[in-house]
Amino acid sequence: MEAIEVKVMSKSFNGIKAVDCVSFNVHRGEIFGFLGPNGAGKTTTVRILTGVIKPDAGEARVMGCDIVKDTQKAKEVLGVVPETANAYPDLKAWQNMMLIASLYGIPRREAELRAATLLKEFGIYERRSSKVKGFSKGMKQRLMLCMAMISDPEVLFLDEPTSGLDIQSARLIRQKIKELKEERKTVFLTSHNMQEVNVLCDRVGIINKGKMVIIDSPENLRTRIGGSLAVEVKFDKAVDMSMLGFNPERVGDNYKIYTTEPHEVICSIVGFATLNGLKIMGLNVQSPSLEDIFVKLTGGSND
Ligand SMILES: Nc1ncnc2c1ncn2[C@@H]1O[C@H](COP(=O)(O)OP(=O)(O)OP(=O)(O)O)[C@@H](O)[C@H]1O
Ligand SMILES: [Mg+2]
Repeated sequence: MEAIEVKVMSKSFNGIKAVDCVSFNVHRGEIFGFLGPNGAGKTTTVRILTGVIKPDAGEARVMGCDIVKDTQKAKEVLGVVPETANAYPDLKAWQNMMLIASLYGIPRREAELRAATLLKEFGIYERRSSKVKGFSKGMKQRLMLCMAMISDPEVLFLDEPTSGLDIQSARLIRQKIKELKEERKTVFLTSHNMQEVNVLCDRVGIINKGKMVIIDSPENLRTRIGGSLAVEVKFDKAVDMSMLGFNPERVGDNYKIYTTEPHEVICSIVGFATLNGLKIMGLNVQSPSLEDIFVKLTGGSND
């Protein structure tokens, strides 16, 4: 059984196709990265898969439970950290934890034990008796994770869990995600942080304008789609690179050229420099990063 199965799922808002005939599977025990520019349909997908909204068409199952026909059952096996905080601000952190636990029908004693363990792991146990409205963004986000995990879900949906957090908080969350994988849990992770996705995810799905563009491992994406390498060059002064051809992209003081023939490009760069009296200050050949692939596949409309 797949952890998540999505078949030709669609959802429109006022005629705009937020999710457009999307199909994919997420395997059990996998960390699946879900990438896409702003407005691509990531949160909408998460909201459908976690039973918050209904799709207009298509099917989706989480651990075999139909999210539309059997929403309650599906909800029992999943946990979610939504894009915007869902804790009650006027309740204390501890009360929020107990509330969620009671919704899942977790016996009180067990709930208290789990809540204490989680809050300690995430470094907010000391603040358990403070109202959430006084929490910082990072503290709220960590609480959100604790709340999502109190039911020990098989599948965890995280919608940009580390966005806007400091390095320590983000690290803590990434560490936890890794531990979940060791426990064979499935994680569906939405993120704009390519480095994060690159190190954490087994596979990555890229969505653009509601359509799933590609799914593969970060490594395969780089070699398969990238195909090309990037030649990065820096000259001693500003130049009109249009003369060189190859359609270079400006990156700070450098110019980047994507090519499958780096030799040819480098020879042209050397010729161009000689002809124009330029000094080459830096020259290197890189394999494409996940970010490069993302830009290539989505037209560079990411923030
Ligand atoms: N409740 C809603 N009402 C109307 N339009 C909506 C609603 N929710 C989403 N949309 C639209 O659906 C599209 C996809 O939005 P969604 O929030 O899924 O994007 P996203 O990929 O999560 O973007 P971001 O990276 O900014 O979080 C957008 O055009 C958005 O305006
Ligand atoms: Mg979103």
